Amino acid sequence: MADFAQAFARRTRLRRGEELKTILAGSPPGVLSMTGGLPNPETFPTEEVDEIARRLVRDDPAVALQYTPTPGLDSTREYLADRQEQLQGRRPQRDELIVTSGGMECIALMCQALLDPGDPVVAEAPSYLGALMAFGAAEAQVVAIDMDDDGLVVDALAERLADGLRPKFVYTIPEYQNPTGLTLSLERRHALVDLARRYGILIFEDVAYRELSFDGTSMPTLWSLAPDVVLQAGTFSKSLFPGIRLGWASGPREVVEELAAAKLNTDQCAGGLGQRMLEEYGRAGGFERNLPAARALYASHWAALSVALEQHMPAGSTWTEPAGGFLTWLTLPDGLDVLELRPAALRAGVAYVAGPPFYVGDGGQSSMRLSFSHRTEPELATAAQRLGAVAREALVSRPAPAP
Ligand SMILES: Cc1ncc(COP(=O)(O)O)c(C=O)c1O
Repeated sequence: MADFAQAFARRTRLRRGEELKTILAGSPPGVLSMTGGLPNPETFPTEEVDEIARRLVRDDPAVALQYTPTPGLDSTREYLADRQEQLQGRRPQRDELIVTSGGMECIALMCQALLDPGDPVVAEAPSYLGALMAFGAAEAQVVAIDMDDDGLVVDALAERLADGLRPKFVYTIPEYQNPTGLTLSLERRHALVDLARRYGILIFEDVAYRELSFDGTSMPTLWSLAPDVVLQAGTFSKSLFPGIRLGWASGPREVVEELAAAKLNTDQCAGGLGQRMLEEYGRAGGFERNLPAARALYASHWAALSVALEQHMPAGSTWTEPAGGFLTWLTLPDGLDVLELRPAALRAGVAYVAGPPFYVGDGGQSSMRLSFSHRTEPELATAAQRLGAVAREALVSRPAPAP
């Protein structure tokens, strides 16, 4: 028998994919899973999309079903630039924006375009697993900077930069961060872009959840504050649906050009049908029509989970208070270990994502990521009840500390 494992690249051993596979695989029957950061299908505008898709296939097949230019269709880029101007108060020039096949592709392109093995990059601790995996596969050296309730601790980054750290970029998710649900404060946004300018460092801003604030408000993006030092990655996976893999990259021209060149080595172009659908949907006011209901749904789900956590979690448990998005970060008391607890949780019928994989070093042993986006509110209440029971049981049955 051939042993193909010998042929696998060194980078395959650097992956941290087990947790991600668990998230994407779903959970056994009877288990209420709060793992995936998936949008709720109730928010999918199926009738509108059905009409648009049929119309495009009938009337515009030569564009919608064809390959597209690597940076994206001109009309889609024009729409994205209009949208950026409308939502962020600043318009990218033509060569400052490309269409990507989702947010994750933009992360992969950034790795291809900027990272040589051993290059330092900064990420929040904890950070998005997909990004950490991509940085790992690029053999980057990830420097983790802590977060607190106001997001990335920019002063801690300032200290590292003053000590001589020169990362290729600083990866940050300013709104409703994955995995913590936390948001970077306005003061820190200004401080961060000031630092980037002072040291000539690129900020890599991931705005995956930005349009899903619970109350419809938002702070200025880092890119809108400092388009000279910020590369923004956006995605329509959360605000529309992930069934068309579509996003954007906007930022300094020379970086965007390099991303477009790197895209020749990935899929060469994002799908034309998705680009045209997005454009038609957006131009017809789809986002304005449907996003308010999506925001209200996620706000209501969070309210339901938050009440249930309050009711069921043992004293000493803490969790973050997201102002939008899909996620909260829960920490159990007394150093309970979430990996050790997982089999009992699954037996009790509840699943979560364990904290440690979201860290490059140690961390997250007592923390877990909970997603409230795609379960119903009664399910979230039951899930919290099960989780609380498991945590209480672990607290009473654990061995007493040595005298
Ligand atoms: C912070 C963050 N960035 C990027 C992505 C990937 O987005 P996409 O599905 O568009 O590739 C996700 C998906 O969960 C995410 O949470």
